[in-house]
Amino acid sequence: MKVLVIGSGGREHALVWKIAQSKKVSKLFCAPGNGGIAELAQCVNIQAEDINGLLEFAVGNGIELTVVGPEIPLALGIVDVFQQHNLKIFGPAKAASQLESSKVFAKNIMKKYHVPTADFKTFRGKDEALAYVRQRQKPLVIKADGLCAGKGVFVCPQLLEQEQAIKAIMQDNVFGEAGKVIIVEEILRGEEASILVISDGKSVISLASSQDHKRIFDQDQGPNTGGMGAYSPAPVVTGTLLARIHKEIIIPTIEGMQKEGTPYCGVLYAGVMITETGPKALEFNVRFGDPETQAILPRLKTDLVEVMLKTQERRLNEIELSWRDEACVCVVIASGGYPGKYEKGRQIFGLDELKTEKDIVVFHAGTKKENGKIFTSGGRVLGVAGLGRDIKQAIDRTYAAVSKVRFDDLHYRRDIAYRALERINAG
Ligand code: AMP
Ligand code: GLY
Repeated sequence: MKVLVIGSGGREHALVWKIAQSKKVSKLFCAPGNGGIAELAQCVNIQAEDINGLLEFAVGNGIELTVVGPEIPLALGIVDVFQQHNLKIFGPAKAASQLESSKVFAKNIMKKYHVPTADFKTFRGKDEALAYVRQRQKPLVIKADGLCAGKGVFVCPQLLEQEQAIKAIMQDNVFGEAGKVIIVEEILRGEEASILVISDGKSVISLASSQDHKRIFDQDQGPNTGGMGAYSPAPVVTGTLLARIHKEIIIPTIEGMQKEGTPYCGVLYAGVMITETGPKALEFNVRFGDPETQAILPRLKTDLVEVMLKTQERRLNEIELSWRDEACVCVVIASGGYPGKYEKGRQIFGLDELKTEKDIVVFHAGTKKENGKIFTSGGRVLGVAGLGRDIKQAIDRTYAAVSKVRFDDLHYRRDIAYRALERINAG
């Protein structure tokens, strides 16, 4: 069958890499793709937000399954549009995508269906919000309601920071419409984990657990990024804990969405804080995580296309996922300066050598191919993923591979998966 993947990052390269292995696939396209994806799929120059352009392409080229990577096309309703044209597409409909595109929607679902989460209040006016935080006098989190490319959350221990965040969102309108409504919630303490599941609206299957590293520097220092690395499985998520997360967070949400008349079909990503009193949902994303996907998919043995088709057919109960026992670590190599200003167009060396390395896959994020050479074209450039019999071996193999990649002024964290190591070392 002919498959189209939408997006251009490391997550989409991992999806393309996995989908390309399916025996069901005869031709693979990616819109718009990147320099690495171009080696596995035919890249088409249509942006992920261009719903009409993508529809026209899918109809014109007989696409039999479309897989959506990023959240924006989902929030814009690409699934509804494709389904109106009888095209198969993997991802939630616009109404269900509100679990990510509106934090107020997500929190209200959690509240209504008793999903443990941080206590919160919603505000539509700056003055009320300011009065509230001044009266509370405690550490709080300020969140813009809408999509802000991962920048709309401010964790503020101090009142001054809380006031600044509220003013930035509601007075200076730094996020435009996305900041018309805000949430103020209590700060949760603990270790975070990413729990990804696939649902067809009724049945739910769990992907392997993982953990992301959001800060730019080692030991979780410096500004937040799109994610500097990930590993899977995350030992903090024991079997018992995973069962509890399913029972208390995932299942009530999926059932709640069904009861609301907005059934959830696709990948659901729950950001979970493991607190002293148990797991609490921080947020939902309606797509695969980036870079979690780059650490999860190399471990998946099952044909992902088969899973996606069964999801479409509402027959997910017929699927059982099978996993490699090995651990996987993905280290992101970024352009120096990211997440601030950085240079583009630097030639990348060392990639050919890694192509033949067993148990190493290099996923491209911000790269461009020109005349057979690969150049940087974004902040997060590559994700090097390595498998090992345990997390320690996966770390060693991945960093050995990372050290072979060269371009001017590259930056990566040297401590990806450190929490897992600490946990193992602590016995
Ligand atoms: P979100 O987009 O809601 O996941 O928020 C992004 C990041 O902000 C999360 O991954 C957490 O690290 C942090 N965060 C969000 N909400 C809270 C909270 N209530 N307490 C502590 N940290 C939070
Ligand atoms: N890794 C965080 C995200 O995908 O949103």
